[in-house]
Amino acid sequence: MSASVNSLINRPILASIHSHAFQHNLNRVRELAPESKIWSVIKARAYGHCFEAALKGLESTDGFALLDIQDAVWLRENDWEGRILLLEGLFHESEMDLSQQLHCDLVVHCEAQIEWLERYADKVHKPISVFLKMNTGMNRLGLKPAAYRTAFHRLHAAGYRMHHMTHFANADQIDRQPTVDSQLELFNQTIEGLEAPTSLANSAAILWHRNALGDWVRPGIMLYGASPTGLYSDIEHAHLKAVMQLQSEIIDIQDLQAGDRIGYGGRYEASENMRIGIVACGYADGYPRQAKDGAPVWVGDDSKAGGGIICPIVGRVSMDMLSVDLRNAPNAKIGSIVELWGDQVPVDEVARMSDTIGYELLCAVAPRVPVVIK
Ligand SMILES: Cc1ncc(COP(=O)(O)O)c(C=O)c1O
Repeated sequence: MSASVNSLINRPILASIHSHAFQHNLNRVRELAPESKIWSVIKARAYGHCFEAALKGLESTDGFALLDIQDAVWLRENDWEGRILLLEGLFHESEMDLSQQLHCDLVVHCEAQIEWLERYADKVHKPISVFLKMNTGMNRLGLKPAAYRTAFHRLHAAGYRMHHMTHFANADQIDRQPTVDSQLELFNQTIEGLEAPTSLANSAAILWHRNALGDWVRPGIMLYGASPTGLYSDIEHAHLKAVMQLQSEIIDIQDLQAGDRIGYGGRYEASENMRIGIVACGYADGYPRQAKDGAPVWVGDDSKAGGGIICPIVGRVSMDMLSVDLRNAPNAKIGSIVELWGDQVPVDEVARMSDTIGYELLCAVAPRVPVVIK
């Protein structure tokens, strides 16, 4: 039997987080946006990679951008002394004191938040940076251009260090409205004459809209080595590396006769005699139940050092297991290592075969999957 993916526990499943890949991807962002500072976006437990791993792998970032003030507490408790941006600002006025203690930068996207900051202005003892968010067409968060300049002046007058910010709706698409160019034009018109650093670009803009970077870029998905468009080819082209490797093992093998069916619903019917590997990974681990027949996994081959081959999944993914067609892998046996996604199997490919995006799969890795930081 091959070395187990996880010798510490009985069930062989493991998410390995590769710090060197984090560093590599962060360096790629620096090469693509050499004039900009970097907010590394680590919301949703660092897109499912866990905060410990992000802190270790991305320690040379200029700042971390996240959602929940409790995650900022965690970063400070773990000796992060650099900048922290609360990406949606405060959710309650009562968080003002804590955010100041933690020395967080704040996104401000609505009138209520402006009023909280104005009321707090007398209690500010260290300058607080505000990233005032403009809604330039995405219509999610942010002040409409007509209200933006007044808001900027109010917060500036209250003593806050001002920055301009917006978010692109379609940096990963060419022909969808609003386009990056239309959002950028509105943004630039609105901030004319209001001197302050800017923050604009998410991963897709960093990769494909170099005219729209701003002074602070905000990469998320590209730091994790996955694609904003869902096309693995663009990630390969950008020389990004997968940070997470999700692995399991074959725990049983079934020999099927032509006409036999596999798993719940019998979705897949064997067209000939074939071997099926049963892998200890299911939707309760975060593998998508919607995965279609043909979604790729990589099956290790002990007879070739580091060798292995891509095989397709067949039949419906169940809670704790999935089934793999082993016709490509005659040497596969119980204990063979299987990569669900990582270096060999782009998470974007699994996402494509499951009608979703890599973001969702990475964020959804279940708490029951042990994580090791390498
Ligand atoms: C405001 C903001 N900036 C940046 C990002 C990072 O986006 P991406 O992961 O596509 O790079 C996000 C993520 O959704 C976001 O909400």
